[in-house]
Amino acid sequence: MTETRANTKKLFIKTYGCQMNVYDSDRMGDALAPHGYEPTLDIAQADLVLLNTCHIREKASEKVFSELGRLKELQTERRAMGGDMMIGVAGCVAQAEGEEIARRAPVVDMVFGPQAYHRLPDMLAKAEAQRQLHPSMKRAVIDTDFPEEDKFEHLPLPKKEVTIKRGLTAFLTVQEGCDKFCSFCVVPYTRGAEVSRPVAQVLAEARGLVEAGVKEITLLGQNVNAYHGDDKGRSVGLGELAYRLAEISGLERLRYTTSHPRDMDDALIAAHRDLDILMPYLHLPVQSGSDSILKAMNRRHTAAEYMTLIERIKTARPDMALSGDFIVGFPGESDQDFEDTLRIIADVGYASAYSFKYSTRPGTPGANLGDQIGEVVKNERLWRLQELVNKQTTAFHASCVGKTLPVLIERPGRMPGQVGGRSPYLQAVHLNGGTELIGAIHQVEIVGTSTNSLVGQLRQAVAA
Ligand code: SAH
Ligand code: SF4
Ligand code: F3S
Repeated sequence: MTETRANTKKLFIKTYGCQMNVYDSDRMGDALAPHGYEPTLDIAQADLVLLNTCHIREKASEKVFSELGRLKELQTERRAMGGDMMIGVAGCVAQAEGEEIARRAPVVDMVFGPQAYHRLPDMLAKAEAQRQLHPSMKRAVIDTDFPEEDKFEHLPLPKKEVTIKRGLTAFLTVQEGCDKFCSFCVVPYTRGAEVSRPVAQVLAEARGLVEAGVKEITLLGQNVNAYHGDDKGRSVGLGELAYRLAEISGLERLRYTTSHPRDMDDALIAAHRDLDILMPYLHLPVQSGSDSILKAMNRRHTAAEYMTLIERIKTARPDMALSGDFIVGFPGESDQDFEDTLRIIADVGYASAYSFKYSTRPGTPGANLGDQIGEVVKNERLWRLQELVNKQTTAFHASCVGKTLPVLIERPGRMPGQVGGRSPYLQAVHLNGGTELIGAIHQVEIVGTSTNSLVGQLRQAVAA
């Protein structure tokens, strides 16, 4: 039973962008819990609203300002009824634009970047003091420094009850930041240089998750396979970390995302060969199939090198399903460059892929390149690329029909009498069955497909 204190305040966090933001939002909630904040799903009831933002493409950034406009109206309504609402902007837009956000949207009380989350309770106290001192012309508290201290050392881990509520699968950030500087990308600027968490810290967090009932952990990093965590003075890569995590009894599945082809080393590939716990699904973005575009993007590998890497991975783990990211319309992309991208997609055969129109980001080298591609061409290329990828996804789902796959049953299904879960290849699977199946991996025969998922039939329960 959770204790409800008289002074409990309600917290609403809206999360944009990548999975690392999802993880960060939970950790911000954990940091505020000891200070009397509990999550609410009703934004209108919130005493504190945090927007955890994404700066990756122009549209993603602009969403923040339209949301702040809506929040201002909500705050006015709350005040008219004698209440109030504080508003904070976190994440990558906050890191990139800092002070500018407070200037454009005076409704904001706090602006702080991803490296400042452990200081959130302090910032909140300062922001509250500001409001009391200067009710009519408060100044926002801004914190976009990259601190020297280890953020994760100072962020509290969630209580066991909280982790139980969050479910059977969990994210665990092991690495932050990026040193790759792809010419289109803001991440090295918003998240800073690559930093890896020490091995002992990662193992302790993973054990805590498993003790609370988590069966599947997805390790996260902007460049997760560049992980090089300290282990008593020795540097440990992601491959070795996977072997160490595999020793945790009760942990049944391990995934990681997102990886860079340059950091896919022999040890990690060997881990895929050796460890059943490491799921055969790999998100390995290539962005383009054209060598001249890859060079202009500063990806630091060729299309042929990527293909050789895929072959090595498939030799180690023949059933590996691949996923990728693609950008169409990078400056200078010719028809032939785009055809090369379609070719690499055809050659690899993706289980799924994300694709985006190139979006010029201020401050990145790509923004200064000539020969920007027009919107009509970008749209047409995106459409053709997505058509090809959709066909591949459909074919991949169809290839699973008739097979029996282990499915981690996670939740009740959309229809009564159904449950849902995920295959090793991250496909959603629905099947008839009672809620007693939830929480374990069951053998499920795949009998059909629907648009974005598989339909299954229970074979037998795996002995615990
Ligand atoms: N760290 C990861 C993910 C980065 S962002 C990686 O290296 O793959 C996720 C995806 O967004 C990228 O893979 C890329 O395809 C896309 N992206 C990044 N910047 C972009 C931009 N300026 N315009 C369009 N897409 C972009
Ligand atoms: Fe961005 Fe490239 Fe770093 Fe990925 S590897 S986060 S795309 S700079
Ligand atoms: Fe977006 Fe920042 Fe993630 S820019 S994709 S929230 S690292």
